[in-house]
Amino acid sequence: MIINNKNQNDIISSELINSYDIEYVFNNKPKNRFQTKPGIENRPLMLERLRENISNIENCELKKNASKLVFSDGSHSSPIMIVGEGPGQKEDQEGKPFVGDAGLLLNKMLKSINIERQSVYITNVVNYRPPENRKPEPSEISRYTNYLKQHISIIDPKILILMGSTAMESLLGSSIKISKARGIWKEIIINQKTYLTMVTFHPAYLLRQADQKKYSWADLKEIRKKIDELKIQI
Ligand code: URA
Repeated sequence: MIINNKNQNDIISSELINSYDIEYVFNNKPKNRFQTKPGIENRPLMLERLRENISNIENCELKKNASKLVFSDGSHSSPIMIVGEGPGQKEDQEGKPFVGDAGLLLNKMLKSINIERQSVYITNVVNYRPPENRKPEPSEISRYTNYLKQHISIIDPKILILMGSTAMESLLGSSIKISKARGIWKEIIINQKTYLTMVTFHPAYLLRQADQKKYSWADLKEIRKKIDELKIQI
């Protein structure tokens, strides 16, 4: 077999091979024999595929009634991932999570612990607005949790923040109360990886129950403490 020469190194390699008169298929590309972990460079493509899979969901009441798919906002390389419940009216119009009143409060909450909104990654349990802003049904939560778990695996955050009972229910089940679960670090396993997770109140709930903000503030301070302890760059 004669090999076509492209550059000096190829000429030397191919002359050597040709001189041995061995039938070789020569390829300069190294073969990766190791299972590669989803790397940060693969995230945009993986996120795009996930978004496409969600957009192809069939027989979904939420999708039927919504105007836009609300996928995520923020930095896909962030070490902090926030999960809310589902889009409201404004999010449905804009196709972005947390852009209404709850979103404004979320921005302030993050700012209070020195974090800019655009440096975290934000998504929801369900990606289409539930009609009349109702809470997603348990069957809807479990259907979308499959996507959420993929989403978390792709972002691979150092800290996962579950805001509100729907996000908590999605990943921790419905047998616990948010008032008991909030403010405590938990480790949850998703696709064989452990994620350090904090459940806290949803900003929309805090807008209705201002007296609960003191608990939210305590949780935020815990989150900041953990970021500093683990030397997470944010
Ligand atoms: N509430 C949520 O849970 N998510 C949003 O995106 C907006 C409001």
